[in-house]
Amino acid sequence: MVIRLREVNEKVLWTEKLSKYFGGLAAVKEVNLTIKYKSVTMLIGPNGAGKTTFVNLCTGVLKPDSGKIYFLGKDITGWPSHKIYSEGFVRTFQIPSPFLKLTVLENVLASLKSDAENPVKAPFRNFWVKKEEENIERAFKILGKVGLEDIWYYEAFKLGGAQLKMLEVARALATGAKLIALDEPIGGVDPAYAGDILGYVRNIKDSIDVSFLLIEHRIDIALPFADYVYVMDRGGGNL
Ligand SMILES: Nc1ncnc2c1ncn2[C@@H]1O[C@H](COP(=O)(O)OP(=O)(O)OP(=O)(O)O)[C@@H](O)[C@H]1O
Ligand SMILES: [Mg+2]
Repeated sequence: MVIRLREVNEKVLWTEKLSKYFGGLAAVKEVNLTIKYKSVTMLIGPNGAGKTTFVNLCTGVLKPDSGKIYFLGKDITGWPSHKIYSEGFVRTFQIPSPFLKLTVLENVLASLKSDAENPVKAPFRNFWVKKEEENIERAFKILGKVGLEDIWYYEAFKLGGAQLKMLEVARALATGAKLIALDEPIGGVDPAYAGDILGYVRNIKDSIDVSFLLIEHRIDIALPFADYVYVMDRGGGNL
């Protein structure tokens, strides 16, 4: 038992010979990849290498043709994406896009679980008022980790590209995610801010029990922030 717990802690996610074919094309071919507890694991490779397909397989968006996926010690192969999401593996696009008219704080609160909507507990006002206060406190802590606490009152439509990315990360954290997949988080972001985004990601994983799977093209910028790097080419090879 002790050994199993340690194993779970050390490996958040691992795949065994994971494969996906589109017609005759091996988009992902026998990929063995491990994401360790509290790590930033980077997946790089040229266009069409299979990186996004790999993440789609792991998050249940696509079903693999063969191979296994384990998350927090459970075999999640073939699970639907909403079930994997509620287990704590979140891909940022799975979170509905920010409510642009709501403030930064309200967007994070919307991702936290609230008992105010619970029909059993809702009548006990004192109970949920306290809960809401706790949620606001939690939301501010999360906003502090992504550098958005000073602009908590901005409506989301006023945010720049890099800030919107950080709001996505904040909302993923608010769901209680244990593993967050970011597919090209700095794509389309001004290079001047790209390092900031990745710096926040690193600090978050240092301070919270969360790991990141980062797909990136701009390895020159991203590499210094990664703990582990996997290189994928034409579906996998010897990962
Ligand atoms: N739904 C699909 N149907 C058919 N072929 C697909 C599908 N999705 C991806 N492919 C093919 O699978 C291969 C891997 O694509 P994928 O998008 O996973 O690559 P990628 O590494 O994410 O590339 P990029 O860096 O451009 O985002 C490509 O040849 C692509 O054309
Ligand atoms: Mg891709």
